[in-house]
Amino acid sequence: MKVGLIGGTGEEGMGLAYRFAKAGHACIIGSRSIEKAQAAVAELREKDASLDIAGAENAVAAEAADIVVITTPYSAQAATLPPLAGACAGKIVVSTVVPMSFEGGKAALVPVAESSAAQQAQALLPRSTVVAAFQNLSAKKLLKGAPLDADVIVCADDGDAKARVSELAAQIAGVRAVDGGPLACSQFVESITVLLVYINRNYKTQAGVRVAGI
Ligand SMILES: NC(=O)c1ccc[n+]([C@@H]2O[C@H](COP(=O)([O-])OP(=O)(O)OC[C@H]3O[C@@H](n4cnc5c(N)ncnc54)[C@H](OP(=O)(O)O)[C@@H]3O)[C@@H](O)[C@H]2O)c1
Repeated sequence: MKVGLIGGTGEEGMGLAYRFAKAGHACIIGSRSIEKAQAAVAELREKDASLDIAGAENAVAAEAADIVVITTPYSAQAATLPPLAGACAGKIVVSTVVPMSFEGGKAALVPVAESSAAQQAQALLPRSTVVAAFQNLSAKKLLKGAPLDADVIVCADDGDAKARVSELAAQIAGVRAVDGGPLACSQFVESITVLLVYINRNYKTQAGVRVAGI
């Protein structure tokens, strides 16, 4: 499968590209700048030269991909996604985005009119099927390459799309996919990441989530 990462040059996009490529998928790191995309590819190839990873401008990455993953900051989403609507039409689009601010060193959830960043993405990409996932996975841990110890909570309104993204998540070593219900539940998953920021500070770690009892 070809996975295209919009804004894939940041830590989260590179970390996911690294893990998806290790699982055997072809990844295209998207960027506003082809040079920056290629630099990100070179960095990942230094970790493992055999990975199937290419760099491209965001629109080219979205066009070439079977599944598109949004890894831009929330503040960039409203401007970034509309020009990609055609390239993303008919495709699964995964939102990893957490609407979060860090004013004065304090992490806080940014209010979203559509309730969550993932629901906003769905409104901006009406011909795509948006699935929310990966918001609680630490980019630093993804980039390290060691097996993770974390659940990925997957929220979507379309059962087939949810199943495909759950399968993709479970291909990351140490990750279990958990069905988090409809896309409307993505607001709760996004907010957990704000909590994790404080937990990480207190315990000097990169914590993830595990759902007990299932
Ligand atoms: N970091 C984490 O541990 C983590 C964990 C879970 C979820 N997430 C979510 O994953 C997403 C990416 O996180 P990150 O830490 O990788 O973010 P980031 O480094 O701040 O940004 C990722 C990429 O987005 C592009 N970008 C930045 N500003 C932009 C703008 N104004 N317009 C268009 N593109 C822009 C940049 O790519 P180009 O300059 O190459 O275009 C940048 O490299 C965020 O939504 C975050 O909430 C992050």
